[in-house]
Amino acid sequence: MQSSEVRKTFLDFFVQKGHKEVVSSGLVPINDPTLMFSNSGMNQFKDVFLGTEKVDFDKATSSQKCVRAGGKHNDLDNVGFTLRHHTFFEMLGNFSFGDYFKEQAIELAWELLTEKFKLDKDKLWVTVHVDDKESEDIWLNKIKFPAERLSRLNEDNFWSMGDTGPCGPCSEIFYDHGENLPGDAPQEGLDTGDRFVEIYNLVFMQYNRDHNGKLSNLPKQCVDTGMGLERITAVMQNTSDNYETDIFKEIIN
Ligand code: SER
Repeated sequence: MQSSEVRKTFLDFFVQKGHKEVVSSGLVPINDPTLMFSNSGMNQFKDVFLGTEKVDFDKATSSQKCVRAGGKHNDLDNVGFTLRHHTFFEMLGNFSFGDYFKEQAIELAWELLTEKFKLDKDKLWVTVHVDDKESEDIWLNKIKFPAERLSRLNEDNFWSMGDTGPCGPCSEIFYDHGENLPGDAPQEGLDTGDRFVEIYNLVFMQYNRDHNGKLSNLPKQCVDTGMGLERITAVMQNTSDNYETDIFKEIIN
C-alpha cells in the first residue's frame, strides 16, 4: 500500500466514524509561545482541550506536519541512528473533544489496525499507564488482548505536549518487526530499538498542567492520538526501515 493510500485509509476510516477531517496546521504554531514547532496533531486543538476555544465538531481527524527538534519532544539525537526517526514527519490522528473516551478510542484503534490495515495481531504489543486499570481492563477483557504482550509503564505512558498544557495517561501500540532486529519488548527503562516500534499512541487527555507542575482536570475528558505515517507505511510495505518506503526511496535513489 502506497503512503498516500495509508494516509487516506486512516482519514477515511475516522470520517466514516463521524470525525471531521481537519487540515494540518502550519509547522510554526500560531498564538502558542510554549512551542517553537508543531510537535503533534493535538497542538492545533490545545485550546479546545482546555475548553477556551469552541468548535462545531466533537471529533476530528488530521494528518499533521511535525518537527521534533528541541523542547520536550526532541528526536534529533535519534535521527540518523535509527530506522524510525525523522526531523520532519507526519502524524495521523483522531481526536475526541468530550465525545468518546478510553473504551471507544481503544476499540477504534483495534478495528483500524486489525480490520482496515489487517495487521497480524500476534505482532502487536500494548502498553498502558501503571495506574490506568480501566484501559488495562478494556484491552484484556473487551479486546481480549493477550496479557503476556501487555505491559504497564509509568513515565513513558503519561503524555504531555510540553512543560505546561493538556496531558494525561496513554496507551501505546507497538509492532514487532522481528527478532533479527535489536530491541527489547516494551518495558520501563528498556530500549525497544528498531524491533518493537511504537506505531500508535492513544492519549487520554484529562489534565492541564500549570507552571508550578500542578495538575487540574480538563473541563471534559478528551482523546488525542498519533500514528506516525512513515512508521505505519513501513509496516504496510513489509519493511522495518522507514527510509525504504515510497516516501523516501525515490528521493534517495
Ligand atoms: N500527542 C500524542 C503523541 O504525540 C498522540 O498524538 O504521541
